[in-house]
Amino acid sequence: MTHGASSSPARRSVLGAAVLTTAALGIGAGAAQAGERTGGVRPSGGDRRGLPVPTVIAHRGASGYRPEHTLGAYQFALDMGAHVIEQDLVPTKDGHLVCRHENDITGTTDVAAHPEFASRRTTKSVDGVSLTGWFTEDFTLAELKTLRAKERIPGTRQENTLYDGRWTVPTFEEVLQWAEKEGRRRGRPVWLYVETKHPTYFRSIGLGLEERLAKLLRRYGRHRANSPTFLQSFEPTSMERMARLVGTPRVVLLWTPDDRPWDFRESGDPRTVADLVKPDGLDWIAGFAQGIGPLLDLVIPKDANGRLTEPTTLVRDAHARGLVLHPYTMRNENTFLPADFRRGTDPNAYGDVFGAYKAYFATGIDGIFTDNPDTGLLAASDFTA
Ligand code: G3P
Ligand code: CA
Repeated sequence: MTHGASSSPARRSVLGAAVLTTAALGIGAGAAQAGERTGGVRPSGGDRRGLPVPTVIAHRGASGYRPEHTLGAYQFALDMGAHVIEQDLVPTKDGHLVCRHENDITGTTDVAAHPEFASRRTTKSVDGVSLTGWFTEDFTLAELKTLRAKERIPGTRQENTLYDGRWTVPTFEEVLQWAEKEGRRRGRPVWLYVETKHPTYFRSIGLGLEERLAKLLRRYGRHRANSPTFLQSFEPTSMERMARLVGTPRVVLLWTPDDRPWDFRESGDPRTVADLVKPDGLDWIAGFAQGIGPLLDLVIPKDANGRLTEPTTLVRDAHARGLVLHPYTMRNENTFLPADFRRGTDPNAYGDVFGAYKAYFATGIDGIFTDNPDTGLLAASDFTA
């Protein structure tokens, strides 16, 4: 994730262990207490159109078990029963939208093993972060399709390397076709959750994402307010642009309180995430979006030791404006869990993730992104029993 210049690779790597205090968040604590299942006002978007609450969103597919953003990861998530399957979108040189968490494909494909592409290795600045590697926008779709996907974090998820090389990088259109086919087979729509990645950067190099995305959504009938699809972005103006193109529901992603979305930096808008989670900021978001996707720490901050503290008022404040909350990201491994839910000393071993889910669900959130949809579904079932 590169969400602006403050998001250095080192900082990104400890995202799951980020420690934020209530004061740092700039929002009050204590209103969304454990036991308040709905967080107060039931949001207008929270239970509409038949999605279960809490909604379990497969983050990049079942990425705890398969290399992320592959048809294998999406299929496994759907087979597990995940309610929604997430895609992150970046473009190719010839303007096709493909599913990758980043345009830097160095760590998630075998591109480094292709001598014919050695000269494409380059250094560039994306959202103020200097990156060296191979990038989707330097490859045509035909070239990209000669690569094979691989596990992004093999040190943590060695088992997933079993599947390295099994799948290609999927296009978003292939995912739409897969979802149609699976929907017909199951007799119910397959929900998707689609993120525009680095939209300002890509527009600056002539590869604007939103019009291309809108065209595909219209082609596959996912352009309406009641379509089984959420759109999402860390850049609010990308969701404003999508609002002008399609009716598909939109979610503004929120990172750390000090983060200033890259589109804001480019346009001179001084607001940070700390501003956006205040009442005025949420009022503004509610003008063009139906939900927010906050970092989990914005819902329950951690103390200096990485342990959960008291919930903030974010759930109540967002629900009061009809906004759903889909925080990110739950993962089963100790290294990604709050300190109070880690078990043993192996960072790659599973911790007490059910305990963590219980704490987060009790705040009244409407759903959650997770790399382990099966665990999330069991936790949701426990919570609603
Ligand atoms: O989109 C929700 C969550 O996926 C945001 O974080 O960096 O994993 O896309 P990221
Ligand atoms: Ca995402």
